Amino acid sequence: MKGNVYELQLEDWVQEAKALLNQGEVASYIPALQKVPANCIGISFVDIEGRTIHAGAECQTFTLQSISKVVALALALLDQGEEYVFSKVGMEPTGDPFHSIIKLETSKPSIPLNPMINAGALAVTSMIKGNSADSKINRIKSFIHQILGDDTVDVNEGVAQSEFETAFLNRSLLYFMKQGKVIDGDVEMILDTYTKQCSLEVNIDQLALLGAFFANGGKTIPSGKQLLSEHYAQICKTFMVTCGMYDASGEFAIKVGIPAKSGVSGAIMGSVKGVGGIGVYSPRLNKKGNSVIGLYLMEKLSKRLDLSIF
Ligand code: DON
Repeated sequence: MKGNVYELQLEDWVQEAKALLNQGEVASYIPALQKVPANCIGISFVDIEGRTIHAGAECQTFTLQSISKVVALALALLDQGEEYVFSKVGMEPTGDPFHSIIKLETSKPSIPLNPMINAGALAVTSMIKGNSADSKINRIKSFIHQILGDDTVDVNEGVAQSEFETAFLNRSLLYFMKQGKVIDGDVEMILDTYTKQCSLEVNIDQLALLGAFFANGGKTIPSGKQLLSEHYAQICKTFMVTCGMYDASGEFAIKVGIPAKSGVSGAIMGSVKGVGGIGVYSPRLNKKGNSVIGLYLMEKLSKRLDLSIF
């Protein structure tokens, strides 16, 4: 890292970013997401010592959506081990949109190509220990509480319910994978867990702290506990590089160069190894499902502090 992040005028960055509020659309395929304040903007940086600088995000909380896939992958690796997880889910980027079904049929063997696309993430969620949606989601919540040293993170039940009622494509992916024996267990139960995991609500500092946990090699920032091995943390960050921004991962690697994961809520989490975590948020998305202003702020931060890993 070059320069001092704590000297940055992030409030000015948020003001500048407002010029982009005329671009992109709030996700509408999950009806409840359309109701969020569309003009909210936030940025936070938490270093591995736990020091924080942030600006904006007056709307306070938002759901993790696909960012939860990184946390679920970490927990599935702890629960089942690497060999089992990667016998059911691949390690390759798809170049397709996050909800695409096409490669499930055309890939041989017929397993999802990676844990960041919806098919792979649903398979990963099915691997988390627990015999009901409640027990699985409670384990995911408790894992996040330990990471953050904060037990306030909870499911936004309204968003979860809204997604559960309309998740026809995710149901299709699950049934397809059940037929192919990628998953076993009850489809509705897995979907219930998954929609709740995606609906976990955080604020911008909690998002950056989550990123800092992976940047810190799986050691929690508040307690210094090695919750995840460095190797598993590295696996998570590698998927963030290759698949974290879906079919925009290549462009993001060139322009920003930080392991990152986006969610359709408009949040993006970044992890800079040995340095810290980044959270950016603004609900309007580009055509590939990534936050327009989130991308702008990430690129600006990366260039200003020379954070690209490449
Ligand atoms: O499964 C879904 O469609 C959502 N719960 C999450 C998708 C998502 O966040 C994609 N990210 N950009």
